Amino acid sequence: MRIFVTGGDGQLGRAMAEVGKDGELYPGRHDADDITRPEIIQTICDFKPDVVVHAAAMTDVDACELKPDQAFLVNEQGTRHVAQAARRAGALMVYISTDYVFDGNKESPYLETDPVKPINVYGQSKLAGERATREAADRWLIVRTSWVYGKGRKNFVTNVLEWAKTQPVLRLVKDKVGSPTYAKDLALAIKHLAQISATGIYHVSGEGACTWVEYGQEILKIAGIEKEIVPIPFEELKRPAKRPSYSVLSNRKLGTSGFVMRSWEAAVQDFLMNRDVLERKGPL
Ligand SMILES: NC(=O)c1ccc[n+]([C@@H]2O[C@H](COP(=O)([O-])OP(=O)(O)OC[C@H]3O[C@@H](n4cnc5c(N)ncnc54)[C@H](OP(=O)(O)O)[C@@H]3O)[C@@H](O)[C@H]2O)c1
Repeated sequence: MRIFVTGGDGQLGRAMAEVGKDGELYPGRHDADDITRPEIIQTICDFKPDVVVHAAAMTDVDACELKPDQAFLVNEQGTRHVAQAARRAGALMVYISTDYVFDGNKESPYLETDPVKPINVYGQSKLAGERATREAADRWLIVRTSWVYGKGRKNFVTNVLEWAKTQPVLRLVKDKVGSPTYAKDLALAIKHLAQISATGIYHVSGEGACTWVEYGQEILKIAGIEKEIVPIPFEELKRPAKRPSYSVLSNRKLGTSGFVMRSWEAAVQDFLMNRDVLERKGPL
């Protein structure tokens, strides 16, 4: 399978490169392969991909709120370029979307058929990317995921470890519920869906759900660190962008396709067992 990955330096992009080692994979770089420039269409076509995994995005939720034009340029217009390229190349377009397309008012895991209603610019621009994918691509797969962590950049897991070293107590949010997703597991699920030529919308996230407090407690427990956690309301962080209160995604449809996601706790354990992450020698 020949896979072109946009956002190749990001968390998912790096994980795709790991799980796609058995085939040919082109990892698109932000500077050389900017998706907001139309030239990206020719670059993708020249690679002759079977699958385009579109992982590049403006992912900083608060920056999107402050710079909506930039958010839509990257997440909508950039996606349209990538989808056009996939159509021209005859490839399956895989667009990576987000739990933030939902408003968070549900109390049970979101299904692919649930109505979307984003409450921040990031969610709105990613939803516009979903529409651009449907309009411009011929064969498309939209994979919605949530709370992604992996190698390649700072994320909640690495932040908690950092804060545990530098702060007297950890102040973590108690009123947002979601599902942490390990980029490697997400990449394996995407590869599976591409191999069975799945199309349409699929939800893919770590199995189970937690608050940011419970997520932090699990990270500390696995890393063997004792630290006090002070639960706080999200409001206290004074972030520019709102977040949905509940954004758990149901993996049921993915399961019926023959791929089972492991629990989010097992995945965090796997990630933390990697010594590059902890940047220290010896046992956890
Ligand atoms: N992270 C999450 O919690 C989360 C949750 C739900 C869905 N998602 C979606 O999952 C996908 C992968 O997320 P991730 O965590 O792997 O993101 P990430 O680590 O932030 O990686 C995104 C990559 O896209 C690149 N990029 C940004 N603008 C670009 C442009 N104009 N042209 C080309 N490349 C560009 C970034 O480069 P720079 O670093 O140089 O900007 C970065 O390498 C994204 O589509 C995201 O919306 C993520």
